[in-house]
Amino acid sequence: MPPLPTSISRRHLLRAGGVLAGMAALPLLARGNADAGRALGPAAEPGAGRLIEADFTAAERMTALPCFDGHKLPLWTFTEDPYPPVIRMALGDTLEARVANALPGEEHLTVHWHGLRIANDQDGVPFLTQPPIEKGERFIYRFTPPDTGTFFFHTHCNTVTSLGRGLAGILIVEGDETEPYDADETIVLKDWRLNAAGGGFDDFYTPAGAARAGTFGSVRSANGAVNPAIEVPAGADVRLRILNVDATRTVGLGVRGAAADAAVIAIDGCGVAPFPSRYMLLGAAQRVDMVVRTPGEGGIVEIIDFRLSEPKVLAHLRAVGPKRRGTPFDPAPLTAPRMAAPDLDNATMLPFELASSPLGAAVTEWGSGSLCTPGATFWSINKTSWPGLAESRESLPPPIATLERGRTYVFELANISKQSHPMHLHGHSFEVIETLKSELPVHRADTVMLVPRERARIAFVADNPGDWMFHCHIIEHQETGMMSYVRVA
Ligand code: C2O
Ligand code: CU
Repeated sequence: MPPLPTSISRRHLLRAGGVLAGMAALPLLARGNADAGRALGPAAEPGAGRLIEADFTAAERMTALPCFDGHKLPLWTFTEDPYPPVIRMALGDTLEARVANALPGEEHLTVHWHGLRIANDQDGVPFLTQPPIEKGERFIYRFTPPDTGTFFFHTHCNTVTSLGRGLAGILIVEGDETEPYDADETIVLKDWRLNAAGGGFDDFYTPAGAARAGTFGSVRSANGAVNPAIEVPAGADVRLRILNVDATRTVGLGVRGAAADAAVIAIDGCGVAPFPSRYMLLGAAQRVDMVVRTPGEGGIVEIIDFRLSEPKVLAHLRAVGPKRRGTPFDPAPLTAPRMAAPDLDNATMLPFELASSPLGAAVTEWGSGSLCTPGATFWSINKTSWPGLAESRESLPPPIATLERGRTYVFELANISKQSHPMHLHGHSFEVIETLKSELPVHRADTVMLVPRERARIAFVADNPGDWMFHCHIIEHQETGMMSYVRVA
């Protein structure tokens, strides 16, 4: 590895204890705190708790989303609900999701609750945490989310196809507001890979895409529409929950029309002291909550992907009604995350190098008949490529690391490849404590973006026992090698 820059900020010195002080320093996040808004509120306390019941039958349903231009397409969905389905619950509530498999062919499935720190046997990874739900079978997930925030759920096998066909849902756990905002809108970003005629899908997996940045869709959408208008109150503080549920796309997210008056309040569902939102990468599976002060009646705020040569408007807010607020913009913070603080003085460092596969190019064709078995290897973590999902628990590879329960770990991630990798860890949220390139402040997350040559240190207490996937969320990368798991024992 090339030597790291040695600039050490004062805040780094304040934080750095034995282990971190002994390491080469990465530039600290949030150079200076001048921008930071009000501090987070005290962590939320769970309420009495209700039982929220959800019946899912994963199946192909012909669906005419507004972005399909009059066509009905064979989506895979969990329910008959309009796209995207959203479950809202309160901190303390228990979700019981009864999932039946009526997907076409021999497709099996599990449901993974992305970002939720729940028990390992509810985490929904086939063979690793449960047997897959076979055709005609049913599985009941039951858990009480320990955290508030903006989450989503999706399958964890043949995910490139199932996500491509829309099989995902949004899960919102409420209870994190210190003061109410004037509105709360969910914006789900996803591209659809329509074929030239627009009446069907192109292949979701392509070897050329898998070996590079992934296979992109052709139609950008927000909530299933092309640049929808979302009506919001005028002169108001509106909470936006923006989720990237695409299998591939990294969005360069920005807001136009209220540039000075937008603040990030949460990343991956985890509250962060409000900071001005200018431009941030939102990789596959990443979420950001923002507060936008809307303009007067009739005013427009655009949600834009600035990462393209031509900025692309993904959705826009249209302000309606009388002005709600006259005070200067000073967005209320959320409550603090409910996770244990990492003990950096006594942390164990684990390096992870993200690279293209040492095996080189594809070894076989994409095996469409063998579910969960990509048959091609392009990517690796620490020179190891996931061999393709096994047919049984016994045939899984060993964990890439075994973590001692209760101990703090610092993962030192280095991307030495030419592509970006949004890396996701199951069952835990980590603190992104240092990065080489990112301009974000120190924050909690479950997915961290590593652009080419990016390096990042993430820290967390390994307090959730079990086997937890650690993989890239560009699904074609995940399914062609950039996948592993850690064992917390
Ligand atoms: Cu949303 Cu294993 O991931
Ligand atoms: Cu990747």
